[in-house]
Amino acid sequence: MSERYPQPKVTKPKARVAIILDYFIGRGDHEFDTYHDPELYDKGAHSRLYRRDNLARGVTDVIEQHVPYGHKTKLLDVGAGTGILSLELAGRNYTVSAMDLFASQLDRLKQKAEELGLSEKVSPIEADMNNEFPFEDDEFGAVVSLRANRYVKDFDRWLSEAHRVVGSGGMLVLPVFAVDTVPWKRNSDKGIHQPTTHKGIMRAIMNAGYKIVDQASVSYTQAVDQNLDFRDVPFYYKPNFVVAEVQQ
Ligand SMILES: C[S@@+](CC[C@H](N)C(=O)[O-])C[C@H]1O[C@@H](n2cnc3c(N)ncnc32)[C@H](O)[C@@H]1O
Repeated sequence: MSERYPQPKVTKPKARVAIILDYFIGRGDHEFDTYHDPELYDKGAHSRLYRRDNLARGVTDVIEQHVPYGHKTKLLDVGAGTGILSLELAGRNYTVSAMDLFASQLDRLKQKAEELGLSEKVSPIEADMNNEFPFEDDEFGAVVSLRANRYVKDFDRWLSEAHRVVGSGGMLVLPVFAVDTVPWKRNSDKGIHQPTTHKGIMRAIMNAGYKIVDQASVSYTQAVDQNLDFRDVPFYYKPNFVVAEVQQ
């Protein structure tokens, strides 16, 4: 077993049926409870139900294929949470701005970054992705976002902000889980239509001025299926990847 990728303890997972209900009905005032208890969040994320650590490795593989080192390698991770993806990226030599709504999540990210000796490579930023992103134009080589798009209230606006901060030639890497669009109708700002099919999402991305360069799902799925170096994830953790490049 790899020392770099120790297998976490398996914790008792929340009942799957409750998770599914959360998606469809919502949790009202309790929507964000999990994010205020980041240790519990991490326990769940590393459990067999999610294997988010393995997911982050597979996603980072895809990012490495599309965002070369040396060319504006600073990445923006939107909805970074406790840093499961940001820290994997930082461990592979990217510099990452990790943006999240909750200080509680980012405090844990900071603590983990210190433990891993990666503090210099990850900057936690507390900000709401449904507002203007607090960055300059053209600041990043790529925007990535993992399992946070269910909280996006206006996808077109979100795409335009991502477009602005990467600028021409910059990349967007978005693993799309069909289930994450389920809460969009509930969470959208009133009157805003958001596409909830993969096709609709792709169209919105193209309309926002991106060119789709690859649906990296195949290489991700191959890595997962071959269980390469601890990348096995539950079968429902095989997203449709969108890799898109901002056009001139
Ligand atoms: C399911 S977690 C995913 C975290 C991380 N990307 C991962 O894969 O482990 C969703 C994250 O989105 C964050 N989030 C929710 N609404 C947000 C908003 N409006 N702006 C920024 N982050 C938000 C939550 O705090 C949470 O950390």
